[in-house]
Amino acid sequence: CGIVGYIGGREAAPFLVEGLRRLEYRGYDSAGAAFLVGGRVVINKATGRVSALAGALLGAGHGARTGIGHTRWATHGRPSDRNAHPHPDCQGRIAVVHNGIVENYRELKEELAAAGHRFASETDTEVLAHLVESQRNGDGLAQAVRRALRRVEGTFALAVLSADDPEVLIAARHGSPLIVGEGEGERLLASDIPALLPFTRDQLVLDDGEVAILTRDGVEVSRLLDGARTVRHAARVEWDLATAEKGGEPHFMRKEILEQPRALRDTLCGRVGLDGLPRLEELALGAGEARALEHVELIACGTSWHAGLVATRHLAELARLRASAEVASEYRYRPALPLGAEGGGKALVVAVSQSGETADTLAAMRAAAAGGARPVAVVNVVGSSIAREAEGVLYTRAGPEISVASTKAFSTQVATLFLLAAHLGRLRGTLSESGARELLAALGRVPDQLEAMLPEVAAQARALAPRLLDKRGALYLGRGYGFPLALEGALKLKEITYLHADGYPAGEMKHGPIALVGPQTLVVVVAPQDRLHAKTLSNLEEVKARDGFVVAIGTEGDRELARLADAVFWLPPAPEPLNPLLAAAPLQLLAYELSVALGRDVDQPRNLAKSVTVE
Ligand code: G6P
Repeated sequence: CGIVGYIGGREAAPFLVEGLRRLEYRGYDSAGAAFLVGGRVVINKATGRVSALAGALLGAGHGARTGIGHTRWATHGRPSDRNAHPHPDCQGRIAVVHNGIVENYRELKEELAAAGHRFASETDTEVLAHLVESQRNGDGLAQAVRRALRRVEGTFALAVLSADDPEVLIAARHGSPLIVGEGEGERLLASDIPALLPFTRDQLVLDDGEVAILTRDGVEVSRLLDGARTVRHAARVEWDLATAEKGGEPHFMRKEILEQPRALRDTLCGRVGLDGLPRLEELALGAGEARALEHVELIACGTSWHAGLVATRHLAELARLRASAEVASEYRYRPALPLGAEGGGKALVVAVSQSGETADTLAAMRAAAAGGARPVAVVNVVGSSIAREAEGVLYTRAGPEISVASTKAFSTQVATLFLLAAHLGRLRGTLSESGARELLAALGRVPDQLEAMLPEVAAQARALAPRLLDKRGALYLGRGYGFPLALEGALKLKEITYLHADGYPAGEMKHGPIALVGPQTLVVVVAPQDRLHAKTLSNLEEVKARDGFVVAIGTEGDRELARLADAVFWLPPAPEPLNPLLAAAPLQLLAYELSVALGRDVDQPRNLAKSVTVE
């Protein structure tokens, strides 16, 4: 979700609308704002995009000099006008916008309800508004917010305003980003730096556990826990807008690779219940329907197809479902087999697409629908054609992906499809409760594991690239979950270095590709610890015997792999089905660094397009 806030001498609404528009990549199922107008709190919110709401927000905020706004990804409570932020307290004197999750909201809600509070929404955020109200005791707003937040477990970034304290805006951060901007006689608030840049370069990034009191003329920062003041000054952000949009990175691709931990956290947000089990309410799929399924057909192009290939293995393992992933341009023209009621209604068709606009994928999905299927989609861009035409959508929540070579879209697709497989496994009774809990707990750790390994992997890829400049081509190998990763690694290399690269199942190497191996061939082996590890290692011996230069991706502590490979990217240990989420980043960074070293146009490689809307 994204948060904005304004207090100052100008109209608040135009800033809130522009800020929300810039934060829309963080969530776009509903939006809203609260303003202080004539001693009252006026709230305007609705499902839908900021652009559709802009007129209403500007109207509602007319004349207001203080306001807060929000753009939302539904976590607690489905997307609806009622569940959209901001949320008021009982009296409508306080309004809150919030990003994050209040883990103990049920307990707090019960306690407040027992004290007479009535709730209008299903959200955890509304509980916060009531909690602040209940902690007032005649004190100022900041004091009440501080007391309220000390009772909250979970993560948050929030902004609070009150008609009884019109001179201040309160902001607090614990686990979700929040930035204060300083202007002439005005203070602004947003979830990221680029959203504030058109308005001010003087910015102060709040730390976790800090509360800020914003007034027209200043910011007072203190610690949430004990209220102790901390002296903080805004720093001048020197980035231009283009660099800011790249998060200070030289290329969008690198920024997008490095933001995968954040993207994955967003993907998982609200999709694992407090009981540790999958929750995919977005897909209205009943247990009866899930049990009747006989197979799943995934349709996609490019990188999205590779995510589909990973998912075929997840579906087989977790949901005991036969699954195929087919390239959409083939699927759409192959002889149509009945998929709907005549076919027994036994196939689930899933279109996978980052953009939601790929012509072949859209056409293949339409062909499936014409054959009687009720296709669902895994899509990143909200409101895109595929999302609109599908019967159900699981959004990947990667945020905008600008670089042509897809990176964070891939990992979030894999994570989303994994959740789908776990969900189907539970509905079909093929995945035990404890098994699901264990896997989802491990999945929940992946973003942190990735975050911890990325700096080392990035540095290693940079150091390795100059050693690869003499290579004529590359062979990527893997087995099981590693095979689709090999295809994806080879595609990344092709796309942005223009070197020839092939992805192969490691066991198939002896049937042809081994003829390519020699000193000028780069051989990349995806070989984390899994059931087929020993077999992959013996394929590696065959490569070594022919003087191939081997770059391996393996699990920490694998001495045998370290002995065989010329360089190894190490992954932390994880259950086998989650290895793809960890192994993708080294493949992406390797291709990225080699592309940079070769002087290629990383973000816009020749001949390619981000979204292919023609056949
Ligand atoms: C283009 C892009 C690829 C992408 C493919 C499918 O070829 O360059 O990066 O994987 O389209 O796009 P989609 O938006 O459907 O995932």
